[in-house]
Amino acid sequence: MFDNAIGFSLNKIRKNADDFHDAFLSDESHDYMYNRNTECISWTEGFWPGMLWLAYELTGEDKLKNTAHGLDKILCERVYKKRGVDTHDLGFLYTLSCVAEYKLTGNETAKAAALEAAELLIKRFHEKGQFIQAWGSLEDKDNYRLIIDCFMNLPLLFWASEVTGDRKYADIAKKHFYTASECVIREDFTTYHTFYFDPETGEKVKGVTSQGFSDDSCWARGQAWGIYGTALAYKYIGDKKIIDMFNGITERFMSQLPEDGIPYWDMVFKEGDEPRDTSSASIAVCGMLEMNRHIKNEKNVERCIKIMEALENGYLTDECSNGILKEAMYSRPDGSESECNIWGDYFYVEALVRFNDPDWNMYW
Ligand code: GLY
Repeated sequence: MFDNAIGFSLNKIRKNADDFHDAFLSDESHDYMYNRNTECISWTEGFWPGMLWLAYELTGEDKLKNTAHGLDKILCERVYKKRGVDTHDLGFLYTLSCVAEYKLTGNETAKAAALEAAELLIKRFHEKGQFIQAWGSLEDKDNYRLIIDCFMNLPLLFWASEVTGDRKYADIAKKHFYTASECVIREDFTTYHTFYFDPETGEKVKGVTSQGFSDDSCWARGQAWGIYGTALAYKYIGDKKIIDMFNGITERFMSQLPEDGIPYWDMVFKEGDEPRDTSSASIAVCGMLEMNRHIKNEKNVERCIKIMEALENGYLTDECSNGILKEAMYSRPDGSESECNIWGDYFYVEALVRFNDPDWNMYW
């Protein structure tokens, strides 16, 4: 299934393995071209090695493996030098790089670096409020909040408990999951992007957007993180209440899609010429396919096929671009244009891998 899209993506990845063997790809493209990112201080650097590991699994080509390994070494150095680690996105960064490498090759250096990242991540847990702080210094009262994206950072902690036998990581992941799900999932199963707590008392304060249209709208990628995040939480926690969360968020996402199944960047938009966000579509597909491994749902699989067909038929880049998926939106309020972004490409390739091998041993 989707052989053409796999071939198309592999060609782009092989070409980028030449051009970006010693650097990451920028968060988003400009004129559909990614630039070299040699700084490695963003939340996104895990996606390029993650994509290389996926491509290595599809092809067995050593060049892809060696390129991913070289980039993971840069991420290893980053965590020990504590460069750009004032963030909960240690999960995104180290799950798709070092955890993937450890799972595929048994590399102990990668395992140790990912455990170091897990150690830093649990330090971001606030007893007052019972959550992992998303961004910035832990002393900064204006940053006393969580964000829905953090669901995707929790698998690093579940993995760390699995490989060390120490429950402390998984315990914090669970506490954060339940706090976050109470705050960010609204009664109608739309979601808040971020949620503030009172730093003195830990009381819940309010939901606020950062990348969505407005505080009370439903940012498409946040909703997609909610779909995939609850599917992953169900895998690791196994609480049946999480099934209702997953179903509610998924139904709400599906009910707000335009005709071709690719969401606008915020789900407040139902028609018109606002930009889409193809990255949200790919993330939602991965989440539905993950949940389908635990609870069979043919309707969701059909929905995933329809979305993947729409992406392939309408949203792949042309030959000149070094990206894969067009019309992905990073942050409209910050002035992003509709372009490729590196996680949109990663999740598209992950979705292709999931269709190619439903038993794929995921990195999350
Ligand atoms: N985690 C940041 C984003 O989804 O843009």
